[in-house]
Amino acid sequence: LASVEVDVASLTPGMSLIVKWRGKPVVVRNRTEKEMKDGEAVNLSDLKDPIARNANLPADAPATDANRTTPGKEAWMVMVQVCTHLGCIPLGQEGDFGGWFCPCHGSQYDTAGRIRKGPAPENMAVPVFKFISDTKILIG
Ligand code: FES
Repeated sequence: LASVEVDVASLTPGMSLIVKWRGKPVVVRNRTEKEMKDGEAVNLSDLKDPIARNANLPADAPATDANRTTPGKEAWMVMVQVCTHLGCIPLGQEGDFGGWFCPCHGSQYDTAGRIRKGPAPENMAVPVFKFISDTKILIG
């Protein structure tokens, strides 16, 4: 399927679901206040990959917390949950940065899915997506 519609009505803050899109797992996470604050507090100069890697934005958009999400819906992370090192599936809400931890070689991602430590070179990818209603997301 080129596009996938996801109903997120049941996701309260702190909950995630994973859907398959183009053969890859895409996580949809309703972040907590703390996760958002932690993401916003990061200095761009501390990022290993300063590029947003958000398919909805220009290719050179900086990796601010907001640029990893979508305007007005900053709580929501929609992201291909595939490690940019060698393609393992990171575990959510694990590791030193409270985001994702890849068990294969120890890459650590923050609450906005940005690579912070370990061998992965890039932030995890944000696919083309949009909210088509308050509770429905279209991916792809
Ligand atoms: Fe994730 Fe190597 S595949 S750290």
